[in-house]
Amino acid sequence: MPKKAKKAIRLSAAEQHLLDRAMAAQQQAYAPYSRFQVGAALQSENGEIFIGVNLENASYGATVCAERNAVAQAVSQGQRKFVQLAVVTSASPPAPPCGMCLQVLVEFCPDLRILLANPEGEVERTRLSRLLPRSFVHPK
Ligand code: THU
Repeated sequence: MPKKAKKAIRLSAAEQHLLDRAMAAQQQAYAPYSRFQVGAALQSENGEIFIGVNLENASYGATVCAERNAVAQAVSQGQRKFVQLAVVTSASPPAPPCGMCLQVLVEFCPDLRILLANPEGEVERTRLSRLLPRSFVHPK
């Protein structure tokens, strides 16, 4: 079946910049086992950008995803309020963050704007509340 052509979306300069950072980060991913490289770029409210890549391990369960590594970078440097996340993988259509990463993102920003993309130029704009509409919240 022929692939349905998806309408190209117009990105703001800020979105394009964040995507470029995630795209560059993807090249640094350490993924010798899955060969699935992931790059993430997380922008905090003060305009800083924190990147993360997936970090695999011979003991597979020790692997950490790109998105959670980006959050760890940001929080380690005192930033906890985020405005946008860009995630780049080789998947088509572009892949969303895994459930564990969504839950970690919700901890800090329940309605984060998210760009999903691949190096072929496919881009999807979505939001965390859409990808994880009913997250776990800590019981009072
Ligand atoms: N991975 C991420 O980095 N982010 C996700 O949200 C999903 C999966 C990584 C983990 C592993 O290194 C590879 O992709 C295949 O699962």
